[in-house]
Amino acid sequence: MTYSKITGLGFYVPENVVTNQDLTQFMDTSDEWIRERTGIRERRYFTYGKDTNAGMAAAASRMALERAGLQARDVELIVYATITPDYFFPGSGFLMQRELGLEGIGVIDIRDQCSGFVYALSIADQFIKTGMYKTILVVGSEIQSSWINKSNEGRGVAVIFGDGAGAAVLQATEDPEHRILSTHLHADGRYAEDLYVRDPGSSRPGRSATKEMVDEGGFDVIMNGNAVFKHAVVRFSEVIGEALEANGLRPEDIALLVPHQANIRISEYVRQQLNLPEDRVANNIQKYGNTTAASIPIALTEAWEQGRVKPGDLVCMAAFGSGFTWASALIRW
Ligand code: UT7
Repeated sequence: MTYSKITGLGFYVPENVVTNQDLTQFMDTSDEWIRERTGIRERRYFTYGKDTNAGMAAAASRMALERAGLQARDVELIVYATITPDYFFPGSGFLMQRELGLEGIGVIDIRDQCSGFVYALSIADQFIKTGMYKTILVVGSEIQSSWINKSNEGRGVAVIFGDGAGAAVLQATEDPEHRILSTHLHADGRYAEDLYVRDPGSSRPGRSATKEMVDEGGFDVIMNGNAVFKHAVVRFSEVIGEALEANGLRPEDIALLVPHQANIRISEYVRQQLNLPEDRVANNIQKYGNTTAASIPIALTEAWEQGRVKPGDLVCMAAFGSGFTWASALIRW
């Protein structure tokens, strides 16, 4: 039986650090409000002319490949998650493929928002288990800072998000002990408009982008923060429980939980539900904010660099986001 396992991890965040205090220049907010409601102290914003969505992903991927002891040419497929691509289409996965010199291999571009990385990992896992590919690059990358509305109208959303990229190399293994145990994907489109960007959409007649759309705020992220929060705490716990149950495991077996970095209060609630000690949950939202599809691979890579992920450890990733989507992955490292 063929399984898949993560053999290399990497991440990249832009150099430009933007503190909560820095945001007060653009909007009516405060360091205290942001820290108390979200746990965030600072985030990274890309530098125009230096960082791109695909470029950051390529940097993260090179690091992951080096740690896996592989060359870029060993990669057979790219699964790339982002909701903030460099172009409306084609997706940034193709630009990263070009940058890595991998012309010819397949690229699967997905969105799936904050659950994007877990969805991407699940897709890659299936391709490896069927025997179609042996080495797949799984990527999450976002540039949120060029998208969000940094005025007072957008402050409820703008303070949360940041930029960055993370990557994992997934390889085939015959070892039943150290592998991805299972992945679990869910969505509920009834809540699509509780966290969304309407434009440029194809649902209305005329040009897909007009000045009116900009003036109406059609390009802004619209978020019903309270609804997202309430659903997130339920779904996180549910999907982690589902993964544990599928493998006959219990919460106390988790050596490291890597939740999508949405809000420190959400992660803390989930930690308490599972009765896990603080050191078994990876949290870096304080430094990077919510980097959407990049948040899990960045947090996992940092935890791995800190020696918090060791062979034999049970690692659980869990995400919740726009869609609504939610997902989990359980790995025996
Ligand atoms: O990955 C999924 C992505 N999204 C999420 O995970 C979001 C989940 N939701 C949340 O994290 C929280 O709902 C937020 C952090 C977004 C908001 O926290 P909240 O405790 O739900 O605050 P609220 O939206 O109920 O707003 C409370 C007050 C309001 O003022 P009034 O009406 O009480 O006078 C807001 O206008 O805080 C005000 N407010 C702000 N004040 C200072 C909203 N944004 C800000 C801000 N700075 N940036």
